[in-house]
Formats: sequence, structure tokens, C-alpha cells
Amino acid sequence: MSTNNEAWGSRVGLVLAMAGNAVGLGNFLRFPVQAVQNGGGAFIIPYLVCFLLMGIPLLWIEWSVGRFGGKSGNHSTPFILDNMGRARFWKYFGVFGIFTNVAVAAYYCYIESWTMSYVFHSLMQTFSGMSQTEVAGFFDRYVDVFYSTTGIPFEAAIFYVICLALNTYILSMGLSGGVERVAKIGMPMLILFGAFLAIRGITLGDSGAPEGCLDCNSHLGLNFLWQPQFDSLANPSVWLAAAGQIFFTLSVGMGTIQCYASYVGSRDDIALNAMSAGWMNGFVEIVLGASVVIPIAVGYLGLGWIQENAGFSMAFQTMPFLFGKWGLVLGTFAGVMWFGLLFFAGITSSLAMGTPWMGFVQDEFKFTRTQAAWSFGLLILIIGLPTVFFYQQGVFGEYDYWAGTVALVVFALAETVLFAWVFGITNGWDEINQGADMVVPGIYKYIIKYVTPAMLLIVFLGALITPKNNDWGAVFSGKFELDESSIIGQIQNKGIVANRAWFADEFENEVADTSVVMKVDRANEWQKSIVLGKYMAYYREANTGQVRKYKADIAGVQPYDSLTPVKTYRFDLNKKLVVDKGDEVVFKQTLAQGKFINNIFYITLGRMILLGLFVFLTILVYRATMIRKTSNPSNES
Ligand code: PHE
Repeated sequence: MSTNNEAWGSRVGLVLAMAGNAVGLGNFLRFPVQAVQNGGGAFIIPYLVCFLLMGIPLLWIEWSVGRFGGKSGNHSTPFILDNMGRARFWKYFGVFGIFTNVAVAAYYCYIESWTMSYVFHSLMQTFSGMSQTEVAGFFDRYVDVFYSTTGIPFEAAIFYVICLALNTYILSMGLSGGVERVAKIGMPMLILFGAFLAIRGITLGDSGAPEGCLDCNSHLGLNFLWQPQFDSLANPSVWLAAAGQIFFTLSVGMGTIQCYASYVGSRDDIALNAMSAGWMNGFVEIVLGASVVIPIAVGYLGLGWIQENAGFSMAFQTMPFLFGKWGLVLGTFAGVMWFGLLFFAGITSSLAMGTPWMGFVQDEFKFTRTQAAWSFGLLILIIGLPTVFFYQQGVFGEYDYWAGTVALVVFALAETVLFAWVFGITNGWDEINQGADMVVPGIYKYIIKYVTPAMLLIVFLGALITPKNNDWGAVFSGKFELDESSIIGQIQNKGIVANRAWFADEFENEVADTSVVMKVDRANEWQKSIVLGKYMAYYREANTGQVRKYKADIAGVQPYDSLTPVKTYRFDLNKKLVVDKGDEVVFKQTLAQGKFINNIFYITLGRMILLGLFVFLTILVYRATMIRKTSNPSNES
């Protein structure tokens, strides 16, 4: 029935491609930030537990589901799942396995295109001589497509299209001729570059510490990440974050692994291959991923700075500046290696995201490989351009939340129930063990049947109805209120209180309580801006001399107040700013006048696009079902 006769060229190629699929931007950008934001060493235990009890089981489930599907010529989840359970809805659940890939690829390729462009700018020495603020500002302008002053008009959009075209071209060369080849080159390069930077990070020590900074030592960064702390084990939000990271980094709950595995020979091993790729990802994440950004940044800027400022754009806003401290030659090298490494990590993942769509249209609509690849490119362009043009308005974040976070958990939960309870753990266990080159520990039969689905359910419910301030005690005492970060809270846009209209003539202040206008800039040729600040308490640490935020229970220090920036607003030049430096402003007070399209409009737009994509794919699956029926009326699917 399928005209699709793709296959992997070799076992090494398969494992490298699968590892390349898993090793991605998540390992180098998302992991360190998640770890810092969740308390460093407090994160690592939940992370490892989630790896063992959800990650590994899901790897085995997805590899065996994929190979099982491949046996009957199915390469995307709708019809693979359809063969595993009788009920018709499994097929439509399978839509997630294409949807998530398309939606994630749309914004993922955008970050990937930044890495491309930053390799270029590192080579061109764009960042040399820039101050830390200037390097950070470069990024802000870069992602502001309409005002890009980096020299190339619409630079961000142009790099996006180039990056997408490259992905599409490689996909059109097929699995063994394209994807596998890129993985065989990209993965070793990535490990080489990563190892070089990690060694720099580990050996940096306090050699880069500026005068007077006593917590500028890369070892402090490593300790912070690695010293296990047990007190956070009872904090559900740390567990949720750890589970989310495991999903994202292993690419489980996506439909990607199933697709890759559907091209594995029906008698070939999957048990050991799954472990090889999974542990390779773990190595790159916790050894290399943890040894670059955080230690290097701590070495120069201090642990305190990182704890306050860790964010995903640090890789672009801070790293190029720090590399500059290594001199022209080494600095340029380091920049090329860092962004080159991110690029290889990114492209071996985004290629993987292309394959479920391709498998689907090749299987069902008899597309040729080339047609399948270019139709993917076109689809991503349509879905992805809104993230490029409206990155700062929140479309990007919206895709990441719904497709890159929520959808993974939903799909993984459904798939685990199907595998362990509908298809049945006995069949499932046979599938995992068929052709296995390793002994799969028997305990995993029970973990897959009971523990994994239970944990997935808890994670999902925890995210669905997160109580305010993560106070789970309140749930049981009856004083329950939803947090704005819960899934339901997100649907209701609970977090958006000011500027809730799509279109408005006035822009309202979103900073709670009272704040002070610290700076008003009306004279910039690029944009007007307002900086709001609040008085916060600080103290000076006796032994290090460092200034730290004061928290209520620090004994024996003399706190003092200082006006600290809390929010910067930028406006187009045609807007009128109605506050002045020194003004006190309250929540929802008008800051500027003009014609505004508020972020909530773009966020809603992003959601509608995702919904539209899901409906579109569902209709295609329905069409495919009809086509199957007419060509083979005896087949009930
Ligand atoms: N695992 C990849 C990363 O860590 C992301 C990814 C998700 C890749 C889904 C493929 C599919 O960045």
C-alpha cells in the first residue's frame, strides 16, 4: 500500500540519527536554565527519577510502537496506533504525532536559524569590541524583524527561510542519504565542540573574575548544579519542570521516535538501540550541557548574577560577549564552536521533526519523497512565519507551551495507556524484547504497566489544575484557586490582567502596585522606551563584598533600598509616551497613546493557527481513511 521504501543504512547511522534527534537545543539551552531556575542541585534528583521511571519506559514504548507500525507499512502515528487498539479514536489521537512535530519545528527552526546567523556573525567579528549591553541589544534588534539594524534587512526572516530550505533539501535526500549522513557528521562535531567548551568551562575557575567579585568562579557554578539538595523533593513544581525537561530532551511524546523506528528492520534490535541513543542524550545533557553556559557565565559574572538572570536567550545575549574575553582568535573560534554546536544539535532534531509528516503523506497520498519534503517546508513556512514576525509579541512562547510542553504529556499518557493496557503489556513486552541485544530488566514490565502511566497522570493533572502559588495544601483544605500558570489558567489568559483588549488606543502599565519611571527615551532612532523600577532591599555580603537581594530572614545584615528596574517597555516611534522620569505609576495606568495591537491578540492568533493545524491534519487522516476503504474495502481501518 505504501510507496515508501526508505530504510536506515546502518546500525551506527540509526543510533546516531536517533541520538541526533534527541540531542538538541534542549540539551544546551533548556536544561541549564531549567536547572538554575529550579534550584540547581535541587533539580537533579527529580530529573534522574523522571528519566528512569518515565523517560526510559517511554523510549522503549515508542521504539517498539514504531517498529511494530513499520511491519505493516505505517510510518506515522495515526495508522500505527490504529493497528494497536480497536477503538477508532486512537487513530485521531495519533494526529498528535504529526501535529506536535510540525508545530515544534515551526519555532524550533527559528532558534536554529539564529544559531546559523550567529555563526556567521562570529566569523564576521560582529561582536568584537561590543559591551555586554550592546551584545544583548544586538539580539533584541535581531528578533525585531521590522527594525533589524544589523545591516541586512529582514535578517531574521531571511535566515529562517535559508535554514528551512536547508532542512527541506536534506529531507528530500531521504533517510540514509540525508538524515543519516548529517547525523554522522554533526554528532561527532557536536561532541568535539562541546568537549572543548566544557573543558574551558571546568578549568576556567576564578581566572576570569573581575576585581572584587568573589563569587565569580566556574566551580561555584558546577557545585551549584551538582550538589544534591533534598529539601525540594516535596515541591511539585520542581517535579513538573523535571518531567517536562525529560520529555523535551528525549523527544518522547512527539511521534518522532515512532517514525524513525518504523524504518527499523522488523527483526532488528530496538531495546539496546533505544538505550544507546537515550544515554548518549543524557551524557550530552548532564555532562556537556551543564558544563558550558552556566560555569562560564558564573566564572565571569558570578553565581548571584546567574541566579537572577538565567534565561534561554543568555546563550545569544551573554555568551558572545564572554567569548570576547578570550582574545580575537580563541574568542572567534569559541563563538563559531558554540553556535556551530547549537546548529548541529538543532538541525539533527529539526530533520527528525520533518519525518512524521513525510511518512504520512508518502504512505497515504502517494507523495514522492521530494514532494513530501517540500510540502513539509511549505507547511512549516506558513505555520512558522508568525513566530518569526511576532516573536516578541508572544506567538513563539504560545507554540512552545501548547505544542512543546502540553501536547507531549497528553500524547505520552494516551500512548502508554494504549500500549500497556489496550494492546496489552504481554504483547508490548514481547515487542520490546523481540530481537533484543540486551536483557531488559524485568521490573520494567511493571513500571511500564503501573508506574509510568500513574506518573504521567499525576504530571498532567498537576499541570492542568496547578493551585495558586503551587500551594497543594490548599487543594485539600478547600481554599483552592487556580494558578495562572495552570493549563486551564492559560486557556483563560488568567495571567493577562492589563491590556486585555485585542486592539486599544492606550497602553496600560502591567506592573503590579506602584512603580517609578526610571527612564524615558523619546529620542532613539529605533524605538521609544520606558523603564519602570521599584524599590527593593539589598545588603552587602560581609565576606564577599557582593551586593545581594535581601530576603526577610537574613540575620545580622543592614539592608538598604535601591531603585531597581523591573520592566522595560518599547514602543514604535509613532506612539506618544505620556509619563515622565520620576513619575509614580500604578497598575493599569496609561503609559502611551496611539493605535495598539495587544499581545493577547497575537497569542490568540497563535492558538488559532495551532488549532487550525490540528483540524487540518485530522481532516487529512479522515481522508486517508476513506482512501484506504475504497482501495481495500475488506480492511476495517
Ligand atoms: N529533543 C530535542 C531537544 O532536546 C527536541 C526535539 C523534540 C527534537 C521533539 C525532536 C522532536 O532539543
